Amino acid sequence: MNEVKVFCPASVANVSCGFDILGFCLDEIGDEMIIRKTSKPGINIIKIKGENLPYESKKNVAGVAATSLLNEFSTDFGFEIEIYKNIKAGSGIGSSAASSAGAVFGINELLGRPFSRKELIKFAIKGEELASGSIHADNVAPVLLGGFTLVRDINSLDIVSLPFPKNLFVSIIHPEIELKTSDSRSVLKQKVTLEKAIQQSANIASLVSGLYSNDYNLISRSLIDVLVEPHRSDLIPAFNELKKTSIAYGALGSGISGSGPSVFALSKGKKKAKSVTIEMAKILIPLNLKFHTYTSQINSTGIKLIDFK
Ligand code: HSE
Repeated sequence: MNEVKVFCPASVANVSCGFDILGFCLDEIGDEMIIRKTSKPGINIIKIKGENLPYESKKNVAGVAATSLLNEFSTDFGFEIEIYKNIKAGSGIGSSAASSAGAVFGINELLGRPFSRKELIKFAIKGEELASGSIHADNVAPVLLGGFTLVRDINSLDIVSLPFPKNLFVSIIHPEIELKTSDSRSVLKQKVTLEKAIQQSANIASLVSGLYSNDYNLISRSLIDVLVEPHRSDLIPAFNELKKTSIAYGALGSGISGSGPSVFALSKGKKKAKSVTIEMAKILIPLNLKFHTYTSQINSTGIKLIDFK
């Protein structure tokens, strides 16, 4: 193979109570990337469509992630990258993770898969670090592994894939304002009370239990974030109303997708998720704000090759 085309899915990080540790992969929206081998060594980004992003590989998340892979697996040839963005930067559904994961996944395919999908996470998080100023794998892990993933330890990249009920669907509403992860992290408190830490641990533990046991009711009771959402919700137009409405129309729970401004809601069944998406959209219509909506299944397989030559 000399060229691959990759589908790089969007993702939802945090999932309310799992700040920086929990995430899942979407299948309704994603970027495409074409990566090809070139005789010129190194990484060369030659085309970016859909977003105004830097071409210089040191400043582009895909370039940084790809370079980190090549630092460990050196080649006497190089790679050129074309990026076709559908996921808006700063949307909260893992735009930088999709590009970072796409670059390392595509190069790994062209190299004959020297690394496992799990091993690729350590390269992809370098791109995420450039985008957000901190290291977290809650977007890149589900993109590379599919489904729900839990980052037990970021330093050793001890990452666990979690099962999930097959009838779990997600509604996403993305108000078109750009919220940089670094800005959205800057409003967070560095210290939390023991009481809140206990509440958050109880919810994340129960959410994981609900995912294992297909207990929709327990999932619903556990989708509560007492640490992060209270500080970020003011950054998102009509957040409280979106959340209240989604729950009133039958969603199991709702919260900020990643660092926002997108809002997600989880529902049992596609029909319910679709009606929740429509009702959330009705909240934003009067605000005269451009927005996008998606209703998606959880993508259990993650990033994939769609073509090769
Ligand atoms: N866990 C990250 C955050 C996800 O919420 O800041 C966005 O990169």
